[in-house]
Amino acid sequence: MKKLKNYYLQLKHPQTMEKKWIFPLAIGSIISLFLLFLTTLTSSDGTPLLPLRHYYSAASAASVFVESKLKPLPISALPPPPRLAYLISGSAGDGGMLRRTLEALYHPNNQYVVHLDAESSAEERQDLFNYVNAHLIFKRFRNVRMITKANLVTYRGPTMVANTLHAAAILLKEGGDWDWFINLSASDYPLVTQDDLLHTFSYLPRDLNFIDHTSNIGWKEFQRAKPVIVDPGLYMTKKADVFWITQRRSVPTAFKLFTGSAWMALSRPFIDYCIWGWDNLPRTVLMYYANFLSSPEGYFHTVICNAQEFRNTTVNSDLHFISWDNPPKQHPHYLNLEDMQRMVESNAPFARKFHRDDPVLDKIDELLSRGKGMLVPGGWCMGSGENGTDPCFVVGNTTVLRPTGGAKRLENLVTFLLSNDNFRPRQCK
Ligand SMILES: *[C@@H]1O[C@H](CO)[C@@H](O)[C@H](O)[C@H]1NC(C)=O
Ligand SMILES: *[C@@H]1O[C@H](CO)[C@@H](O)[C@H](O)[C@H]1NC(C)=O
Ligand SMILES: *[C@@H]1O[C@H](CO)[C@@H](O)[C@H](O)[C@H]1NC(C)=O
Ligand SMILES: *[C@@H]1O[C@H](CO)[C@@H](O)[C@H](O)[C@H]1NC(C)=O
Repeated sequence: MKKLKNYYLQLKHPQTMEKKWIFPLAIGSIISLFLLFLTTLTSSDGTPLLPLRHYYSAASAASVFVESKLKPLPISALPPPPRLAYLISGSAGDGGMLRRTLEALYHPNNQYVVHLDAESSAEERQDLFNYVNAHLIFKRFRNVRMITKANLVTYRGPTMVANTLHAAAILLKEGGDWDWFINLSASDYPLVTQDDLLHTFSYLPRDLNFIDHTSNIGWKEFQRAKPVIVDPGLYMTKKADVFWITQRRSVPTAFKLFTGSAWMALSRPFIDYCIWGWDNLPRTVLMYYANFLSSPEGYFHTVICNAQEFRNTTVNSDLHFISWDNPPKQHPHYLNLEDMQRMVESNAPFARKFHRDDPVLDKIDELLSRGKGMLVPGGWCMGSGENGTDPCFVVGNTTVLRPTGGAKRLENLVTFLLSNDNFRPRQCK
């Protein structure tokens, strides 16, 4: 945590870090944060957390014996946990996996939009709708909404980006305050608990954008940038694959093309910028990408790297463990039990992709302490879990986080990504 705290200070106040003398002043707060981290870790056996104030009064009693400068910071100086806004989408037959992913990602302070595209049956969508509306906890916090007017989404087509922007717009309008938008599908799964993610992200500046990207488009110049495609999903009621126009177009000169992974965690200010469109760049680039094959692998990347006010906020990572087939990096291989160790050691918070109900998902549930059909327990879950009941059905204080080992893994990843060798040198290059 100490390292992460340093990065936090450095990112926020680069100039103060030059002045070495200020450092001792920060140590008091680092120590108390670190102690807090340790104490929260040791209570992962399920015993309810003592209120935070308890640690603070214990620490101030001890401060009689140390310099007054080391007095712990007041509670308000702790970075408050962020809120995340998730889109989880799927297609025909994904209803069951979408539910499972939602349960594994749930936290009362986050926001969720779920979407089954227009290829799924009305019955399957109704099942998901009923499930979301009947769930005791979702009902109580009213933070899970389903897009009931399903979109037609074409694989590799611009309708995919339209669907992502649609969900982002709903979350802006109805989701209240949140800090990061994370776009997932029913074949993604988390490798850390939400408490781990919220805890580690609470130390980060809220304007960072996690997006894997490069301007080295290579073979994509010929096979992606030059062909012109049309996605019938934009104007037909029935789905048909994209088709190619015989004429080819030249590579843009008004902006530079970037490409990368279709998985990302985007900041609230950047989503505001894309959805509101007070600058014309997000709109013109969107219209350009309407005729681009695999636009989800380029739209946000090109916008963010061509916008001066956002390019310095990029962290070049998609936060996913994905095991690609050997080049050309087009088809991820399905993860199974043999990948478990590599997945955990990658320190990534998410992985893809999985076959529906593959046994490795049960293994990950064990890692997350999630019971079958239950939510992932966190600091807000107060039930005993006796007789197979979901401990999260007894709701405690939802601002209390109880990070597990996953917070440490994620901290290692974030520290690596924000290191001098990785952060600035890999931005929009
Ligand atoms: C968002 O999520 C979907 C998963 O359903 C994915 O296929 C898509 O490419 C993602 N990215 C964007 C930029 O839309
Ligand atoms: C972004 O970073 C570059 C290089 O460090 C710097 O020259 C530029 O002024 C920064 N832009 C903004 C908007 O902060
Ligand atoms: C669990 O089951 C046992 C035996 O049936 C019962 O005595 C106990 O009260 C139950 N506990 C809860 C929390 O329901
Ligand atoms: C919940 O916990 C926070 C500290 O995490 C504390 O400030 C707040 O007072 C608690 N709320 C209640 C209702 O106990």
